[in-house]
Amino acid sequence: MCGIVGYVGRAEATPILLDGIRRLEYRGYDSAGIATLEEGVISIRKEVGRIDKLVEAVARNPIGGTTGICHTRWATHGKVTRENAHPHQDRSGKLALVHNGVIENYASLRAMMEGEGHRFLSQTDTEVLAHLIGRAFDRSAVRTREVLVDAVREALTKVTGTYGIAVIHSEFPGLIIGARRGSPLVLGIGKGEYFLASDVSAIVAHTRDVVYLNDYEIALITAEGFTLSTVQGEGAASHVTKVEMTEEDTGKGGYPHHMLKEIHEQARTVADAMRGRLSHEEATAKLGGLNMSNAELRAVERIVLSGCGTAFHAAMVGEYLIEHLAQIPTECEYASELRYRNLPMTKDTLVFVLSQSGETADTLAAMRESRRKGHRTLGICNNVASTIARESDGGVYMHAGPEIGVAATKSFTSQVTILVLIALLLGRIRNLSSAAGGRIIEELEALPSLIEQVLKLEPVIERVAKRHAHAKVMLFLGRQYNYPVALEGALKLKEISYIAASGHPSAELKHGVIALVNPETPSVFIAPHDTLFSKNLSNIEEVKARGGPIIAIGTEGRSEELAKLCDDLILIPDAPEILTPILTSIVLQFFAYHIAVELGCDVDKPRNLAKSVTVE
Ligand code: G6P
Repeated sequence: MCGIVGYVGRAEATPILLDGIRRLEYRGYDSAGIATLEEGVISIRKEVGRIDKLVEAVARNPIGGTTGICHTRWATHGKVTRENAHPHQDRSGKLALVHNGVIENYASLRAMMEGEGHRFLSQTDTEVLAHLIGRAFDRSAVRTREVLVDAVREALTKVTGTYGIAVIHSEFPGLIIGARRGSPLVLGIGKGEYFLASDVSAIVAHTRDVVYLNDYEIALITAEGFTLSTVQGEGAASHVTKVEMTEEDTGKGGYPHHMLKEIHEQARTVADAMRGRLSHEEATAKLGGLNMSNAELRAVERIVLSGCGTAFHAAMVGEYLIEHLAQIPTECEYASELRYRNLPMTKDTLVFVLSQSGETADTLAAMRESRRKGHRTLGICNNVASTIARESDGGVYMHAGPEIGVAATKSFTSQVTILVLIALLLGRIRNLSSAAGGRIIEELEALPSLIEQVLKLEPVIERVAKRHAHAKVMLFLGRQYNYPVALEGALKLKEISYIAASGHPSAELKHGVIALVNPETPSVFIAPHDTLFSKNLSNIEEVKARGGPIIAIGTEGRSEELAKLCDDLILIPDAPEILTPILTSIVLQFFAYHIAVELGCDVDKPRNLAKSVTVE
């Protein structure tokens, strides 16, 4: 949420910063700004709207210098205006700062400084932080970079909340100060140049050698090198990591949108999620990253799965999977609820947090709360360098490659695949026979080719999508494993096409939702040929009887009755019931995508959303 890029070196900062910030645009895109430092003067450009607007503004009115910071904003405090866009400055105008996160006590700090005569130009919490640092620095007669770092420290000890910041000051050409608490920050090491970014994808074009800052760390960066210390004033060691991601991984690969590219990657990403993790010999999954022995896994009596958005829907599939295959009582909880809830948890409760980014603020907080209570807490993440990946007691990486489209797609199917592996592992050390385990392994191995078949359905799905693109309301219905898919299908549609959509268990129709059914409101039934297929058919009849258009996802060769009832039918290949969510969700990803394209919506950057939500 919000993106930051900083540069210090010998090259012109502006093109590097603008290129980097473009790659972070998916993190927030309501306004953007840049500040560079040249001959002791800070120049700032800010624009409301997409990065292109900022690029145009800089082209009209260029700024130079080899030191600079840049930001793309997802508004939290204060409307989307130029004044509220970052960078913000202190009272002297000599300091410029960009910030991700939320300063919770900004109102009282602002009031205190207003009492001292400070005037603020924006409504943001960030400007308060800029003033606070400048105020601390300007009290000192000694003007060294060490004193400036001390001023940053002093200000950061006064704020509550979260921050990832980059600061420049006109008295210190060639210097950037970065600091983080709760919002990610990564330092990139080049030859005679250094980068700072909220996400490594902004800088992989320049360097693969990076240092991930930890909470409460401050980096003092010049073209000659960097030093790390803590907000408390202690030294901090730096660990240089090699980033595996390449520049191409973050591109669109010839597709018109990241989302479409990511949908089409799923045969591979699902295969990658299970690569090296299936043991035919033992008819089970091998998940060394859990850091748990079979005896420890055997002792687990309860499981809690938590996440936000799409990750929560994957967790819901996991609840069905683990209860079905391993018979362990399992519960899903939104991370934003779990973190504040006093959920009674026995000591043998195992907690999984699911997060593509590994940085979602609520999920991170739920993980920390659960660990604080002494529960073993494991992560299912895509971003290997993320805070959740680093702080959890272990976990399973998705290995899905960067997901840039704001609407999650491949991360959902990877998470569900991993949850099948977890359920299989837990089942096999309980009551699941080796024959049953072996069958699941074979089914998993066949899954990528089933996904390939679903991907070939795109033209059919596109036609159906176009026919229904102008609906104002849509309902998504499914049972058991496909109930979470109904929620996910509705979320995808809402996110990228702004059509009011809701997902429900099919049988809940008659308890209220059916009041919405009319000839203008399509119902999408996820009805593969599973154990409750005939029950779904009855619910479809109920909608048909009331004149509602019906779109159904059925199973190839086993959907004759369904064909008679529906207006549109999309047939997935025959697949084991536990794996159908992976196939049906891909159909609904295409469905939402083609509706959004038909409506002319900005698929990869839907309004008001951001890819990684690092505020509460
Ligand atoms: C945001 C994104 C969603 C995503 C959710 C959780 O809301 O727009 O697509 O599902 O965050 O993200 P995470 O990175 O924790 O999986």
